[in-house]
Amino acid sequence: MKLILLGPPGAGKGTQCKRITEKYGLAHLSSGDILRAERAAGTELGRKAQSYMDSGGLVPDDLIIDMMIGAIKKAGAKGYVLDGFPRTVVQAEGLDAALKKAGERIDAIVSLEVPDEAILDRMTGRRSCPKCGAVYHIVNLKPKVDGQCDKGCGPLMQRKDDSPEVVSNRLKTYHEQTAAVLGYYQRNRSRIIQINADQPIDEVSQAIFTALGRLGR
Ligand code: AP5
Repeated sequence: MKLILLGPPGAGKGTQCKRITEKYGLAHLSSGDILRAERAAGTELGRKAQSYMDSGGLVPDDLIIDMMIGAIKKAGAKGYVLDGFPRTVVQAEGLDAALKKAGERIDAIVSLEVPDEAILDRMTGRRSCPKCGAVYHIVNLKPKVDGQCDKGCGPLMQRKDDSPEVVSNRLKTYHEQTAAVLGYYQRNRSRIIQINADQPIDEVSQAIFTALGRLGR
């Protein structure tokens, strides 16, 4: 199965992708996680991406398209969920062209819908594990021991781009450049699953699994 998860920053894409990939045995291909790993490794791509990520803007399309098409090829036949990509219509067109060349297609687009008002609390309360990528929240999804990853990896961290100023810039970028990606898939008559993501995490997961079940998954 090949899925795309769309939604604004803090919609719960990473949280839900982890659950979907565990249930269906898919690869989780997160453009944000791959960029953060490139930065941590000090690669040229990571250095180029840094200033865009720190300000809440978008990394240039050509860099992202090459990076994500590479990740899709590595995922091989087991299927995947794309998280954070495509984020512009140019990226969606680049993905379509690569899939067409490989004779493949996306099975469904899952669109997580959350109003802007719900986002700020989610982002400023987010804590992540730098080792395994697990995502927590200081109120909505607490770790068992304060500040520590449940999987024994060690201390959790707060993302630099989760400050209120950068979050508001990321939301602006989302409305200006990313919201149009859904319209692109609507015009192309892709299968779109719209999910109310302004409800508790388990209920969002259940809504996604029910919708995927209706597709025979
Ligand atoms: P990226 O890492 O992709 O960030 P994002 O899309 O802004 O999404 P987030 O990871 O912040 O949020 P999420 O939807 O995954 O929410 P989460 O599950 O963590 O990108 C970072 C940067 O990289 C970009 O700004 C850009 O610069 C660059 N970049 C990445 N991809 C790019 C691309 N394709 N093109 C160009 N540039 C690119 O949840 C958030 C919090 O809320 C957590 O604490 C969670 O516990 C909590 N939560 C989740 N669901 C719920 C719920 N239902 N109720 C209550 N709390 C919830």
